[in-house]
Parts: sequence; C-alpha cells; structure tokens
Amino acid sequence: MNPFEEKGMPIDKQMLAWSELNTATYDPQSVHPYTRTRGILMNGIETEAVFFYHNFHRHAQDSDLRRQLSLIRRVEQQQQKSVNWVIPASETTLEVTIGYEQLAVDLTASMAKNEPDPYVKAALDFALLEDFDHLYRYANLMLDNDPKKAEAIVNDLTEIMPGRPTIIEHRHPFDDVRRYAAKDTADILTKLHIATIIAAEQQTMNFYMNVGNRFANMAGRALYQEIAMIEEQHVTHYGSLSDPTMSWFEMALLHEYCECYLYYSCMKSETEEPMRLVWQQLLENEITHLKMINEIGKKYEKRDYSEMYPKEFPQPLILESNKEYVRDVLAKQFTYTGDGTEMVPVNKAESRQRFDEYQNAVNTGEYVPSQQVIADGIVKYGKDYRFETNGNHPIGILQGRDSLPGREEIVNVP
Ligand SMILES: [Fe+2]
Ligand SMILES: [Fe+2]
Ligand SMILES: [Fe+2]
Ligand SMILES: [Fe+2]
Repeated sequence: MNPFEEKGMPIDKQMLAWSELNTATYDPQSVHPYTRTRGILMNGIETEAVFFYHNFHRHAQDSDLRRQLSLIRRVEQQQQKSVNWVIPASETTLEVTIGYEQLAVDLTASMAKNEPDPYVKAALDFALLEDFDHLYRYANLMLDNDPKKAEAIVNDLTEIMPGRPTIIEHRHPFDDVRRYAAKDTADILTKLHIATIIAAEQQTMNFYMNVGNRFANMAGRALYQEIAMIEEQHVTHYGSLSDPTMSWFEMALLHEYCECYLYYSCMKSETEEPMRLVWQQLLENEITHLKMINEIGKKYEKRDYSEMYPKEFPQPLILESNKEYVRDVLAKQFTYTGDGTEMVPVNKAESRQRFDEYQNAVNTGEYVPSQQVIADGIVKYGKDYRFETNGNHPIGILQGRDSLPGREEIVNVP
C-alpha cells in the first residue's frame, strides 16, 4: 500500500460524536496481550501527535497554517481518546503497567530484529534489556498488591526475569545522548522505528510521571519514581537518534506517515475483529492527514516531501514473542552502559568516573527501590517471582532466586 495514493476519509467527516468516541472496552480476562499492547502503542503515537502539533503551532506565524494544524490536532485528540478508552477500569494501574513494559520488550525486540542500521539496532538492543528488567521489578511489586500474577497478563509470550538490573541503568545525563541517523541516507524503516520508539517510550515516561503517585504504599511509589527516571533516559536516548535538521513540515509528514504505517500494521496483525475495525477507521483518518500535510508542505516550503517516501509501505511492524532473541541480547550486553554516544560494558567505559559519580549520587546508602522490591519478596516468600519458560537465566549470578547481586557484582560480570 502507498498511503499517498489512497483516498482516506474526508477531514470534515472525521469528527466523532461522544457516543462514538466512548469506545467499548476489552475484556481483560480474554484480551490477547498484543491487542492490549497495540492499544498502548497507538495511544502513545496519538499523544505524540497531539504534543508535536501543539509545538509546531507555537512555532508557526501564519494564521491559516495554525488553523490547519488546529484542525488536524483536534482529530488526533479524538483518536487518542478512542484508543486509550479501550482499557477497562477493572484493570489496575499495575496491570496496565505490566502491559506497558511487555510492549516495550516486544516492540523493541521486533524492531531490532529488522533494523537495517547497526547503530540504531544497537540502541534498541541496549534499552530492550532495561525495559525487560522493569517488567520483572513491577511483576514482583504485583505479588503483594494485586491478586493477579504478571504471567496471566503476558500470557506465555514474554518471559519475566532480571534483565540489566535497574540499579545499574542510572547513567550520567551526558551518556544517554546518541548520534542521529541522517534523514537523507537513513532507510525508511530506520526512520519509522525511531519515530515509533520515541513515542512509545515517551508515553511510558508520561504514564509513570502521572500514575506513579497513585500507588498506595511507599515501596510502589518509590519503584515508579525510579523507573520513571529511566524512562526519561530512554526518551533522551531514542530522541537523540532523530535527525534535528528536519523542518517542521518534514517532521509533520514523518509523523503522519508513521501513523499510517502503524495503523496499517495493526490492521494486518489484529486478531480481534472489533479492534481491527477501529484500526482500519483510524488508518483512513491518517491517510487524509498525510495528504493534507503534504499539501501544506508544498504551499509553505515549496517542497514535495512525499518524494522522500517509497512507493510501497515497508514490511509491517508485527508484535510477536521474542524470548530467545531477548535471552541472546541479555547474554551479550548485560553490563552495557552509555559511554558518550557509544554503548559499551561498564568496565570498558571511558566515562566510568562519571558513571560512578552519578551512581553514588542516586544510589546512596542501602536503599534502591528496584533492589528493595526483590529483597522484600525474598524475605516474604523465600525467593523472587519469575516466569522463566525457556530454562535458567543466561547470566550465572542471576540464576539464584533467594539472593540479590549488588552493583559491584553486576558490573564485574565478564
Ligand atoms: Fe493520529
Ligand atoms: Fe521501562
Ligand atoms: Fe523504556
Ligand atoms: Fe494523524
């Protein structure tokens, strides 16, 4: 499919009545995990669209242009509502959180496997291990506070066990800034992966920023805070991959193309018919946005940016199980950290001093929430909670379930 050549839904038909906007919720007992995670992803994509267009508008002088942006943005807001409102109230914040981290794992891994640029692939693999660890930490928090176990949510598609332990994910802010992928030479798939993961991680960051203080006990409030700070690092890490020399019009077109591509991908892979119809309708909306923005670009910048796009969509982005892939990356990159723009083992980092200083500033004393949540579980249940379906943990010091390695032990793993 080439979205530039599709008809789309006329913009004046895109505004929905309240009754249409208040989408039917899914059944949390029977929903497919990747239907839940597609919803989380597309909510993040729409949220990014809304904030991007607010920023564009605040940088635009021409009132006609500002009105066009206001029109498209109003629809983006409605789309965000229809997508995010499929989550039922009966799903707790922590259950939704498990969905967020499952998405982070399987979205990142699915993209990394197909990413043509080795540096961007390395960046995806790098943060993959961190979100994989978040899933494990939250799953342990769940034991105490939620009757449900996390494995009922991930449903055998994603393992739950330690990744790169959160305690060593805290890096100096300078070491999260990567090099950017130049827009004129990057593959379209690379650009789409970058745009997608920025929005997804940003949504996770926003979510924890807002719901982290809704947790009833101190252990949970603290864990959300700590992981929310890593999501800030992830948004920095991925945000820096995006080419900053794009014009506002060029960025808008990439946003719309990415929305089209992702709804097309959702439609191709959706197993639940009511959701497939939602994706299809939203794709129709996006095709029109894409064409409108392309016309706006021609008018204001005298450029037809559609020339930068292929005649056909690249292969669709399909969420799938990546257990062996994650284990493989974990075995290879367990102790990695940021080293300027590069990603290397902590022990080989030239920025090691900076790493230690930052670590000492945030991980002072005995108390690190992501460690504490596991230690508390060991005291209470004799061992941590895991859902290992494919054998022992690939890292020796993490195979024992009744003890918890500290920072020094972790960074010294060869
Ligand atoms: Fe949208
Ligand atoms: Fe995460
Ligand atoms: Fe993340
Ligand atoms: Fe859009």
